[in-house]
Amino acid sequence: MTPGQPPERLGARSLDPHLQRYAARAAGMTASEVRALFAVASRPEVVSLAGGMPNLAALPLDFLSEQVASIITDEGLTALQYGSAHGVPLLREQICEVMALEGVTGHPDDLVVTVGSQMALDLVTRIFCDPGDIVLAEGPSYVGALGTFASYQADVRHVAMDEHGLVPEALRAALGAAQQAGRRVKFLYTIPNFQNPAGVTMAVNRRAEVLDICARHDVLVIEDNPYGLLGFDGQIYPALRSMDADNVIYLGSFSKTFASGLRVGWALAPHAVREKLVLAAESASLCPPTLNQLIVSRYLATHDWKGQIKSFQSMYRERRDALLSGLEQHMPPGCTWTRPDGGFFVWMTVPEGVDTKAMQPRAVTARVAYVPGTGFYADGFGSRQMRLSFCYPPPERISEGVRRLASVLTEEIELLNTFGPSTSRSLSGPQTPTPDTA
Ligand SMILES: Cc1ncc(COP(=O)(O)O)c(C=O)c1O
Repeated sequence: MTPGQPPERLGARSLDPHLQRYAARAAGMTASEVRALFAVASRPEVVSLAGGMPNLAALPLDFLSEQVASIITDEGLTALQYGSAHGVPLLREQICEVMALEGVTGHPDDLVVTVGSQMALDLVTRIFCDPGDIVLAEGPSYVGALGTFASYQADVRHVAMDEHGLVPEALRAALGAAQQAGRRVKFLYTIPNFQNPAGVTMAVNRRAEVLDICARHDVLVIEDNPYGLLGFDGQIYPALRSMDADNVIYLGSFSKTFASGLRVGWALAPHAVREKLVLAAESASLCPPTLNQLIVSRYLATHDWKGQIKSFQSMYRERRDALLSGLEQHMPPGCTWTRPDGGFFVWMTVPEGVDTKAMQPRAVTARVAYVPGTGFYADGFGSRQMRLSFCYPPPERISEGVRRLASVLTEEIELLNTFGPSTSRSLSGPQTPTPDTA
């Protein structure tokens, strides 16, 4: 034993000496595949099609630094002080104006500012889910949400999507199955626009049907919409919340339309839920950071934020085009992928027998990174899928990354044809319907 180190307990062989102490819910807290990849994918020689980091290069940094300085000078004693758990009142009003673009007519009192929409996800799960409660989520779904649901010991059941988003028939079937098993479904978690990771959008004519099905089954809808204003043709789809104010909690964020590092998001809840949400927010963080809220508020008041979003849209459109044309040009036969009209992500399905997780080290060796599909399912599906992000690398790097990925895949398929599936491939999980447009 080295001096200063705690003595090893007899028989304690675990690497983590606290293993026996953790609450049961900690067992569901594991590193996501995205996080595990982060270190390796951020090496400069690797083209990362893995991360979902927004590209902030187009932000007016000089203007922002002047504004931040003036906030500290003019309102420093407020900006650096605790605030209300509910959020800064002016910002809440401004957020309502932002949501009005999607047809939402919420009242600022029913809106809670959070530390990113990730915190809002945590709060809604905290106030609604007991261990074992069922949460329905699209298959595949956002990794961060799956992590939150797991940490509250919710039982996630995936609902299939196609190229038009969540399939209403599959939703009915999932609700019927839960009912038959005598299980309680607490909410449907959906990302209707430019979904993470699938890149598909829920067809407008499906939205009312999805809401109707949930209302009939007395199931709340959590609408997570961080990408809604990033439609590449400037199109804005009507929010689910605009169609049903009583049964939808809308989660929004400035992470993709302004600055992710400020960590400003929000939840707009039905009036009856608002108080619990504020109490939960208070117990989680006392209040969201006042300075950051004032920065967002000042930005909305003084900058052409809609023009800024337009420039983000065209930057991401160019990157999406580079990714899609690279895929068309280089991918071997048998690969299919989605064609997003907004957001950050393409979802690709590879030929039968290829395991995207087993292939990942070879891809990184070839200096390209992606996220294997299994990370986006709570139940082991997704071994033939991968998420490709086009948000961060410039177009020419994206093209190079796709070329590298295509040669890794081509080699993998040749190996497969010659030697059959490797052990790891044959151990991969079963497949589920995924949103292919092919
Ligand atoms: C679908 C979805 N929801 C929520 C978040 C969390 O965003 P925020 O930065 O607002 O916490 C993300 C981030 O990538 C996301 O993709």
